[in-house]
Parts: sequence; structure tokens; C-alpha cells
Amino acid sequence: MDRMVLFVMRGHRAKTSAAIGACRNLALVFVAMGPWPLDPRGPEAQEIVGLYWIMFVAAMIVLAIVAGAIIYAGIRFRDRPGHVAQQFHGHNMLELTWTVIPTVMVISFSVLSWNRLNFINDVDTNAAMTIRVQAQQWSWAFTYPDQPMFKLSDGTALQAGGQLDIPAGQKIKIELTSKDVIHSFWVPNLGGKKDAVPGHTTSLWIQANEPGTFRGQCYEFCGDGHADMLLTVVAHAQNDYATWAKSAIDDANRAIDPRTKVGRDTFLASACVGCHTVKGTSAAGKVGPELTHIASKPNIAGVLSPVNQENLTKWVSDAPSIKPGVVMPRFKGTLSDQQINDIVQWLLTLK
Ligand code: CUA
Repeated sequence: MDRMVLFVMRGHRAKTSAAIGACRNLALVFVAMGPWPLDPRGPEAQEIVGLYWIMFVAAMIVLAIVAGAIIYAGIRFRDRPGHVAQQFHGHNMLELTWTVIPTVMVISFSVLSWNRLNFINDVDTNAAMTIRVQAQQWSWAFTYPDQPMFKLSDGTALQAGGQLDIPAGQKIKIELTSKDVIHSFWVPNLGGKKDAVPGHTTSLWIQANEPGTFRGQCYEFCGDGHADMLLTVVAHAQNDYATWAKSAIDDANRAIDPRTKVGRDTFLASACVGCHTVKGTSAAGKVGPELTHIASKPNIAGVLSPVNQENLTKWVSDAPSIKPGVVMPRFKGTLSDQQINDIVQWLLTLK
């Protein structure tokens, strides 16, 4: 073979493999960025992604044929010296073709979608448990089933915010509702999405094939904090799930000690929950530090030590005067001295 041709061919091959490499790297970047819908980790997501690829490829073939035909016709039949472009109306065969083919395609896709995805609507069959999810601007609260495994010392079922813990390999039914506006529950790697509608209960199910951590996102614009309305699903190996539940119950029992109910209720009803997480309660804010074990910490915000009643009261009352520029606002004035004291008494029990 001619040397020049060989050289050009090699260059071409190198470019192709470089392009494939770039695409693969781009895909890896997307995966690293977070939930990537085309990376299914559960049976529901697998079917959705499978169907997505079938439709995507079909759409690309249609695009290539239609765009190719337009370009070909534009070149072949254009008006040019020695050739006059013809105008014609009505061509039964052509019109029939471009009516019948799309009709058949749309019907096939509908049948195929129904066939492959209808099992997603069946939320009840073989569901291992039902977890209730309440959305609100801009967080998620999860209530675990009324079973001995999730029972707290006050008789209520375990609640959590922000993070949902499930056993891997099991179908988990999710019952969704909303406290304020419409939100949408979506954990791309595990399944489809569903709206959380105030005053209604909608349901879906999720399942993770293997243990892992999966990120989710509210999928319905719901106000200022929509983009930050994140959630995390942690799938535990089935034989580790009871251990996780035990430690979650322990944290929660500490957090609901009846002697500190007043302070806890005040905390949960105030702006505190918007920024802080206390495991075992509905408080799941991510702006400020987690407070689940605040009473065992060496200091408050790195500036006040030790963590005692006096310092906590100072901090909650007027943090900005102690640490200028801190995000935590002044609560003196917003909350009464009694309320601040109740909150502090509760925080002191979070060891
Ligand atoms: Cu909630 Cu968007």
C-alpha cells in the first residue's frame, strides 16, 4: 500500500480512539459528579435505562435518515445552470410512507414501554417495607414502618431527615406526600421519579441491587432552595441492616428523652432545623454543623469551650457577637429566654 495512504489511515485511527477516550472520560466525569441516570443500580432503573437506549438509537436512526434525505435532495435536485428545480404537489407513496412509519414507531414504543415499565406501577407486590416520605421546602423527612425494629422508647416509629437507609436487594415501597408545594422524589440510580403533592399520597418503589450510597434530588421546581433539596439513599447489606437500625434507634431515643421534650419541640419548630441535623429527629439541615452528639464535642464552633449550659446559651442567644461573620443568626429577640433555655437543656442531653 502507498505510504501516504497508510500514514493518513493511521492518523485517522488515532483520532477515532482519542475521540472515544474523550467521550469515556466525559462519562466518568458525569458519574463522579453525582447521580447519573444512565448508571442503573436497581431493577427499576435498569429497565428504564434499557428502554431509553432503544428509543435513543431509534431516534438517531430516524435523524440520520431524515437529515440525510434532506441534504441529499438539497444537493441533487437544486436549481443550477442546466437544471431547473421542479415543483410538484402530492405524492401518495411518499405521504403514505411518512405517515405509516412514524405511526408504527409511536405505537411500538407505547406497547414496549407498557410492557417493560408497567411493573414499576406495582408498588405493593413483594414490597419488604413501606417508608413514608414527607417533602417540604426544602428537605425530606422519612418515617420508618411501625415495626418493633424501628420502635422508639415513646412508642413512635423512627424518623429521619435527609438520609434514607434501606436494605439492599429488597423492594422498598415509598409513600410520598408534601407539606407545602409540589416536590418530586428522584433517585436516578435506583428508579423513576414521582411527585410529592400536598394533601395527597402518591407511591413508588425503589430497590438497590448492591449496598451503596445513592444521591437523589428534588425534581420539581419548588422555590429558592430547590437546587439544594437533596437526599441520600444508603443501601446496607441485608445482614447489616438490623445493626444500622439499632444504632439509629439508640440515637433517636437519646434525642427524644421525655425530660427534654419541651426543648426538643422548640428546636424542631424553630429555624434551627433549617441548618442543623440531629439524627433521630426530622432536623436535617446541612448548612451548619451536625448536632447529634453536640454535648460530647470539645467546643462550640471552635470558639467556645467547654460545651456547657452557659456557653451554649451565649452561643444560641447571639453567635455573631462571639464569632463575627458566622452564618448562625442572633436568636435573642427571635426566641424568648425561656425557649433558648429549653433548647440548650435539650442540646446538653445530646451526648
Ligand atoms: Cu422540592 Cu424542588
